Amino acid sequence: MKTANQIRSEFVRFFTDRGHTFVRSAPLLPANDPTLLFTNAGMNQFKDVFLGTGTRPYLRATNSQKVLRVSGKHNDLDEVGRDTYHHTFFEMLGNWSFGDYYKREAIQWAWELLTKVWGLPVARLYATVHHTDDEAAALWQELTPLPAERILRFGDHENFWEMGETGPCGPCSEIHYDMGPDCCDKREIPGHQCRVNGDCGRYVELWNLVFIQNNRKADGTLEELPAKHVDTGMGFERIVAVLQGKKSNYDTDLFTPLIEEIMRLTGSAQRTEEEQVAVRVIADHIRALTFTIADGVLPANEGRGYVLRRILRRAARFARNLGAREPLLYRLVPVVVGEMGEAFPELKEQAEHCSRVIRAEEEAFGRTLDKGLELFAELSRSLREKGAKVIPGREAFKMYDTYGFPLDLTQLMAEEEGLEVELDEFNRLMNEQRERARASAHFNTDGIAVGWEEVTSGPHSEFVGYQQLETTTELRMIGADDDHWRLVFAVTPFYAEGGGQVGDTGLIQVEVAPGSFKEFPVVDTQKEQDKIVHLVAKDEEFPRRALSYTLVVDAKGRKMAAANHTATHLLHNALRRLLGTHLHQAGSLVARERLRFDFTHYQRVDEAELRQIEEEVNARIFAALPVQVEETDYQTALDRGALAFFGEKYGDRVRTVQVGDLSIELCGGTHVRNTAEIMAFRILSEGSVATGVRRIEAVTGWEALQMAAGERELIKELSAELQTEPAQLAEKVRVLVETESRLRQELAEVMRRKALEEGEALFAGVREWGGHHYLVAKMTAASMELLRENVDRFKEKFGSGVILLGSVQGEKVNFVAGVTKDLTGKVQAGSLVKQVAAIAGGGGGGRPEMAQAGGKNPAKLDAALREGERLIQAGLEG
Ligand code: ALA
Repeated sequence: MKTANQIRSEFVRFFTDRGHTFVRSAPLLPANDPTLLFTNAGMNQFKDVFLGTGTRPYLRATNSQKVLRVSGKHNDLDEVGRDTYHHTFFEMLGNWSFGDYYKREAIQWAWELLTKVWGLPVARLYATVHHTDDEAAALWQELTPLPAERILRFGDHENFWEMGETGPCGPCSEIHYDMGPDCCDKREIPGHQCRVNGDCGRYVELWNLVFIQNNRKADGTLEELPAKHVDTGMGFERIVAVLQGKKSNYDTDLFTPLIEEIMRLTGSAQRTEEEQVAVRVIADHIRALTFTIADGVLPANEGRGYVLRRILRRAARFARNLGAREPLLYRLVPVVVGEMGEAFPELKEQAEHCSRVIRAEEEAFGRTLDKGLELFAELSRSLREKGAKVIPGREAFKMYDTYGFPLDLTQLMAEEEGLEVELDEFNRLMNEQRERARASAHFNTDGIAVGWEEVTSGPHSEFVGYQQLETTTELRMIGADDDHWRLVFAVTPFYAEGGGQVGDTGLIQVEVAPGSFKEFPVVDTQKEQDKIVHLVAKDEEFPRRALSYTLVVDAKGRKMAAANHTATHLLHNALRRLLGTHLHQAGSLVARERLRFDFTHYQRVDEAELRQIEEEVNARIFAALPVQVEETDYQTALDRGALAFFGEKYGDRVRTVQVGDLSIELCGGTHVRNTAEIMAFRILSEGSVATGVRRIEAVTGWEALQMAAGERELIKELSAELQTEPAQLAEKVRVLVETESRLRQELAEVMRRKALEEGEALFAGVREWGGHHYLVAKMTAASMELLRENVDRFKEKFGSGVILLGSVQGEKVNFVAGVTKDLTGKVQAGSLVKQVAAIAGGGGGGRPEMAQAGGKNPAKLDAALREGERLIQAGLEG
C-alpha cells in the first residue's frame, strides 16, 4: 500500500515532469489579502497572477497547499466529524497554468494521473461541467473513455468556482468517484437516491479543475480577465483514502496514528457512533490547531484567533464526551508533527510552542466549562424555585457564547432537570451573532472597495528603496478611501508596511507647471497585493496629470526604522543565545520611534537577563559590525542556515540579512549598513502577550539618547530638590526614607503618650451611680487601639465599673465600651456600643465586657455619648 507521503510526492512529480515548478505551500495566513481570514485554496498565493497584476518566473506550478475551511465562503466546520470526508484543515494538491495551457491539458493530465498512473477504475469515475461549458464536455468525450451519461452538467452552484466574495473565478469541471453503495450514509432515508453532487457519502468529489477567466468585483459584477488560467485542487485526504482502498479518510495513514493515540489516551476501544464522531472531530481538529498555531496564530477573542479558539473548544468538548477530564489535545501534537513534519518542517520547529499553547487554552477552557456548569446548576435551581419550566433563550445563548455550551448540550442538561429551552430568542441572538461574525469576516472591506483609476499604463510599484530614497516617476493609478488618496507609481523608493516594519513617510513633489511644484506629504505606505500604495491626505485634489512626480522618503524616519530593524535582529539573536533556541519570533513591530518583539518563551525574562541581553546588543553595536544584504533563491538561503520567520510567505527570490557573522535571516525590511549606526539600544519593558509568548519593547538611536537626556534632566531636578549631587542621590533618598519612617514611629509614640495623659485627666471625671463607678468621655483624635488601652487602664484602676470612650479620627467616629465582669448583668458593652454608634451613623459590637464600634457622623459624637451616659445610668440603677 502506498503511503500518504508517497502519494503526495507522486502527484508533485507527475506535474514537475510536465514542466511545472514546485512552489512551497503558502502559510495558512494569507499575506497582504484582507479578503481572506485563512488560506482556503491552493490558488490564493497566485491570486495576483490570475488578476494580471503580478507575475512569476514560471507559467506552470504545482504543490500541496495547507488550507483551512472554517470561515467565509468555504466553511465546513459543522460537517466535520459527522461524515468521513470533510475536514477543517486539509491539504489541497494542485496544478496551475498561468495563461499557458488550458482545458485540454488540464483534463488530459488529470485523467492520465488518476487512471494510468494510479490505476483508478474508469467505471467509478464521473466528470461534471458547467452547464454552458460545451468545450469541456466535448473534451471529456474526446480525451477519455467516459460515456456521455457520466459527463454531467450542473449550474453555478456546483460548477462555478469562486475564491471569496471577490477575486478570480470561473467555470469548473469536477471529477467524482463512486465509493460504492455501502458508503451511502442516507440509506435509511425513504426515497433517498445516491447521486453525483448528492448529499450522501457514496460519490465524492476528488478533483476540481477551475478554468479561471473572470474576476468577481466588489460590486458583485464579473469582469473578463486578460488571460485564461487553470487552477486545480484535489483533496489530498480523499485521494489517499481512495488509493489506500479505505472507505473513510480517517482510516488512512494520515489519521490512523492519531486515532490510535486518541483511543489510547481515552481508554476503551469499542465505540458508539457518537463516540466515533468525537474521535474524528478530535483527529481533524488537532491537525487544524497544530498547523495554524505553527503558522503564528494564537487563540483570541476576535478574528483568526477566535476561529482557532472555537475549533479548540469544539475538540475539547468532544474530548470530554469521551470521558477526558484532563487536557488531552496537546498530547496529540507530537503525533501530528511525527506524521507531517517531513512535508511541513515548520511543524517540527514549532512543536513545543504548539503543545504549550494548546495545553494552556485547554486548561482555561476546562475552567470556563466548570464555571458554566455551576452557572447552569444555579439557573435551574432558581427557575425551579420560581416554578418555571423554561430556560430563557438569553440564558441559553449566554451558556453558548460565554461558556462554550452548544445548544444541544444545554438542552440535554435542561431535559435532565425537567426544563426546556426557549428557542425563539436563542435563535434570534444566534442570528445576530452570525451577522456580526459575517461583518467581521469582511474585515477591511474598505481596502478592497477601492476602485483603481488607471492614469498611465505600464508596470507599477517597482521598489527601488533599498538603494535610493528619491525617484522621479510616473503616476500609474489613483484610488481613494474616506480620508486619503491612494497612489500607485511606476517606481517608488517608499517601503510599504510589511515584515513588521512600518511603511515609509515622506513627500511627493508634483511639478504642475514648468518650475512650479506642489508638495503632498505621504502619511503612510501600504501594500495591497502587488501594489505599493502611497497614502496622501485628501485635503485637496491630487493632480492626475503633471510634468513630473518626485517621491522623496523622509530620510530620518527611514533611518530610525532601519536602526530599529537591525536592532530587532540583534535582539532576536541575543535572546536565542542567552535564553535558548526553542525561542522563536512570534511577531514584531519595527516603528520609527521604537521596536516591539514577540517571541515564544515560557517564563518571564528577569531583570538580570534583560540587562545581559541589552548589554550583548550594545556590544554588537559598539563592534560596528557590517550588515550584509543579499538576494538569493530560497533553497540556497535555507542551506546557508537562514532563519525563516514562521507565518511569513517568501517568494522564490529572497533577501537574506546577516549582521556580522551572526545568524542569517530572511528579511525584506530596510537595515542600516553598519550596526554602529544604531548608536544605542535600550529595553523599555518585558511582559506577557499570550500563553507562551513574551514581548520586549525597546528603543534605539536618537530615541534612546533622548530618553537618557530626559532622565538626566529628571535626576538634575531631583538633585536640586534634595540639595545633593546626583552621585549622592540614592544615599540621600535612603536617608530620607529612613528618617521619615523613624519620625513616623516617634510621632505615634508621642500621640500615644499624650492620649494616656489625657486618659489620666479623664479618670478625674469618673462618676458614681447606684454605687458603681462609671466614666463617659471624649478623647482627641485617638485611634480605636488607644481607646481600648484606656478602657483597660480604667478597669485596672477601678476594679469595677463601666466606661464608654469616643473619639473623632478624620471622618470616622470611634467608640469603645468596657464593663467589668461583675457588672455585665447590668450593662453589656456590646449592646451599649451598638446603640451609641447607631446615633453617629454606624454600627459594631462585641463581647459583654469589651466592645467597639465605628460611626460616620462626627457631628453626632456628643449626642451619642450623652445617650451612652443615660443608658449606663439606667443600667446601673437596676
Ligand atoms: N481552487 C479550486 C478549489 O479550491 C481548485 O476547489
